[in-house]
Order: sequence, then C-alpha cells, then structure tokens
Amino acid sequence: MAETEIYRSSTFAPVNIAVIKYWGKRDTKLNLPTNSSLSVTLSQDDLRTHTTASCSDSFTSETLTLNDAPQDISGARTQACLRELRQLRQTLEENDSSLPKLSPMKLKIVSQNNFPAAAGLASSAAGFAALVRSIADLYALPSTPTELSRIARQGSGSACRSLFGGYVAWNQGTQLDGSDSVAYSVAEQAHWPEMRALILVASAEKKDVSSTSGMQATVATSTLFQHRVENVVPGRMEGMEKAIKERDFPAFADLTMKDSNNFHATCLDTSPSILYLNDTSRAAIRICTAINSSAEDGKPICAYTFDAGPNAVVYYLASHTDAVAGVFKGILGSELEGWEGVKGRDVKAGSVPEGY
Ligand code: ADP
Ligand code: DP6
Ligand code: CO
Repeated sequence: MAETEIYRSSTFAPVNIAVIKYWGKRDTKLNLPTNSSLSVTLSQDDLRTHTTASCSDSFTSETLTLNDAPQDISGARTQACLRELRQLRQTLEENDSSLPKLSPMKLKIVSQNNFPAAAGLASSAAGFAALVRSIADLYALPSTPTELSRIARQGSGSACRSLFGGYVAWNQGTQLDGSDSVAYSVAEQAHWPEMRALILVASAEKKDVSSTSGMQATVATSTLFQHRVENVVPGRMEGMEKAIKERDFPAFADLTMKDSNNFHATCLDTSPSILYLNDTSRAAIRICTAINSSAEDGKPICAYTFDAGPNAVVYYLASHTDAVAGVFKGILGSELEGWEGVKGRDVKAGSVPEGY
C-alpha cells in the first residue's frame, strides 16, 4: 500500500508593539475594533513565532500545540481562521482538478514562541499571524498580505499588523462584514531603519486578565473609554502617521507615551479596575522620564509603551543607544529590584524578510 502523503509548510512571524493601541471591539464575533491602531513590527531575530502546518488523509483529528502543550482550537476565533483558509483552498481545488484535495484533510499545527505567551508581549499577534501564514502557504493560496491580515484579525486583532514589516496601521474599517478592517503599511522598515526597541521583561507570567476579556470589560464599564475612542485616537493616528513619514522622533515619542498612558487610564477606569502595570513598570516610566528630561535640547529621546501586561517596550533611535539602552541596563542591572534580571534586548524594528 502506498504511504499516505503528508503536506507541510513552515513560517516565522514577528511580534508587533503598538504605539497607538487597539483596545475595544465593536463586533466581538468578527473581531472588529472600536478604533484604528498603529504599530512597529519588531525584528524576528529576537522575538518570533515559528509555526508548521501539515495536513494528511492519515490525520484523524485537528490539533494545535503551542510550545509542546496541546491547545484548544474549538474556539470561534481559531475556527474562523481555519474555515476561511479552507474555503479559499477549496475554491482553488474546484477550479483546478489537478490540485491535491487538501481542503478536506485534518490539519496539524505545531507552534513555538521563543518569548513568554500571554504576558503582554503580543504573543497572540505573532501566533495568529504565523498560524494563518503557515496554512496559506500549505494551501498555496495566492492571497496578499492584506487578505491574510483580514483573516488573522479574526484570530486576534493585533495579529493583522504582524503580516507586514516596518510601520503598520490597522484601519478600523466601516463595513459590517469587516472586509475593510485590515492592516496596511505606513512605511517600510527601511524608511526609518534607525528605530530600536528595548524589551524589558518585568514578569514573564501569564497575565490574570487576557486582552480579550480586559477590553470587553473596558468597553462595557469605562466612560473614559468613550472619550478615548471619539476624541483622542483619531487625531493621534494622523499625528503618528505624520511623525513616522517625517521621521520625527520627538513627535513619535510624545504620542507613543501619551497613548500608552491613555490606554492604561481606561484600564484603571474599568470596573473592576484592570491593573496591568506594576511597580517595576512604573520604575521604567520614571527612568524614561529622567532620560528625556536630561536630553540637551529638551526633546524626548526615548518612549515607553506597555501592552496589556507589565513589560515595557522602550523605543529609541540607534544614535541614542548609550543614553537610553545603556542607562537602562546600568540602572536595572545593579540597583533596581523586582526585575527578573535584565532580559532587555536591543531589538531592531525589522522588516519581514523575503520568503517569510
Ligand atoms: P499577549 O499579550 O501575549 O498577546 P493575549 O491575551 O492577547 O496575550 O493572547 C494570549 C493567547 O494567544 C494565548 O493564550 C494563546 O491562546 C494565543 N497564542 C499565543 N501564541 C500563540 C501561537 N504561537 N499560536 C497560536 N495561538 C497563540
Ligand atoms: C494592548 O490583539 O491581543 O496589545 O483581538 O482579543 O486577541 P484580541 O486582543 P489582542 O489585543 C492587543 C491589545 C494591545 C494593543 C495592541 O496591540 O494594539
Ligand atoms: Co494579544
């Protein structure tokens, strides 16, 4: 008897860290956001997800393992991604009878993150981008990154931005079916290659409030959130695109820190309050503030931002490496208790390499 063939494809996906935060869904089923957002895709040299998707007639169940632990894939969001990708493959198969019939086969997905999951370092972003990308490759889909971002968005909102390198926005969109709620490139990494990010791991533990449930609680209970969505974010999106296009670091830094603060203020304003930042996070804010106030011309040279977790990401330009990363490493390495060592790394804002 002939051996049953196994079809397989692997991909890497990068993390992205938002400078204008996504927080809030207007449609929880389709994962449509209440506001647009903007992020920087980090180099895959440091933080990355590696995912292999395979399918075969011999597989009897559909599985996903993350860092060797079996995951539940029955959730509506993972299922939405799988269904859409399968549908696209099925259409290809219907139009070309010479193609192997992969769409009815069970999928086996094996994923590894090389950084803490569910700790506010965007594991769901890299994770779902890699999941969608690996299956799209396995199915040889002709889909563009924009189309894949629409699918990945349904797995985790922030994942849509990890399909692009460099500086990436996610347009909240206006369509009820979410067809225009996709990511797009604001600028390639090469447009502003001097950007660096220092990742400061205050805690690698799983957060007690997931992004999904946290933002739903904020939408339901925070009045400050309404103000953020209506009056704060739209202007900041414009300002941030302009700052990036003009390579204006002080404007980029100012908006980045303000938006992180505003997002965490809506978390505090949620009932019951959501507290992602801890004393260590606040120490990082103070260090950034001190570094910026000592800058010669009074303009910021570093910008902190925190996702839904205590870990800081500090953006700066390569020319200020000593004044920013050097100072952080000096202080955190010796004096500050509470950090789990200095796991901070200089992470270049990377583009997605060819063949990714
Ligand atoms: P984070 O701040 O790390 O993005 P979230 O609460 O948004 O935290 O999402 C964490 C969840 O994302 C995990 O519990 C897991 O379900 C999912 N996830 C993380 N990594 C992967 C991966 N490589 N493949 C599939 N899903 C993943
Ligand atoms: C604070 O994309 O993880 O990191 O769509 O429910 O999976 P789900 O949420 P997720 O939320 C990310 C929130 C954030 C800000 C951001 O990345 O824009
Ligand atoms: Co996430």
